[in-house]
Amino acid sequence: MLETRRILQGDRLRLRPLASTDLRRCVKWFSDPQIIHFLGRNSPVTLPEEERWFRDYERRTDEQIFAIEAEGLHIGNIGLHKIDRVHRKSEVGIVIGEPTFWSKGYGTEAMRTALLYAFGPLSLNKVSLDVLEYNTRAIRIYERLGFNREGVHREDIYKDGRFVHVIRMSILARELREPAVP
Ligand SMILES: CC(C)(COP(=O)(O)OP(=O)(O)OC[C@H]1O[C@@H](n2cnc3c(N)ncnc32)[C@H](O)[C@@H]1OP(=O)(O)O)[C@@H](O)C(=O)NCCC(=O)NCCS
Repeated sequence: MLETRRILQGDRLRLRPLASTDLRRCVKWFSDPQIIHFLGRNSPVTLPEEERWFRDYERRTDEQIFAIEAEGLHIGNIGLHKIDRVHRKSEVGIVIGEPTFWSKGYGTEAMRTALLYAFGPLSLNKVSLDVLEYNTRAIRIYERLGFNREGVHREDIYKDGRFVHVIRMSILARELREPAVP
């Protein structure tokens, strides 16, 4: 495991290490068509698969997954994947699994909190992600935070009967933007 897995505090939410007791909720989210629509995978996940994945994850040193907690509830996950200490980079993935919590600013705040950790205590220089071309809500929050488009993986995913472009985005430590003043 990478050092101690810690709790990251944002203004309205906190990120705490994902626990095995969270997995049933994650299975529910990753089996919900409205969530899967925005992700690279097409099929629902099962609890045994998720438990196997978690056992493997606990042994890994290159991945840190956080539960996003807001209003006293676990509403989603955010993870740093493929953490590379040599080149000081990682990938990031986020899901707010409860659609009633979408568009309330939690995704932006969770991503900012994870990036402050990645560029601060983890000393990374670059964080990258892949996003489906039609996921405009996600792309807007990434661009607002300072992510740049690196390129397009053309027709990389087959989704709902058609091929979809996948946009590769990244942010460097010096590019993270301050939150907009309300
Ligand atoms: C994509 C996702 C993570 C975005 O998270 P979110 O919490 O819905 O996004 P936010 O609320 O931070 O930002 C969306 C809107 O809320 C607004 N907002 C920002 N701060 C706010 C606040 N404090 N209060 C209210 N609204 C706020 C933003 O202005 C934004 O509006 P706009 O897009 O119309 O400009 C989330 O919708 C999700 O998990 N979707 C399904 C899975 C997915 O797409 N994952 C990403 C795969 S790459």
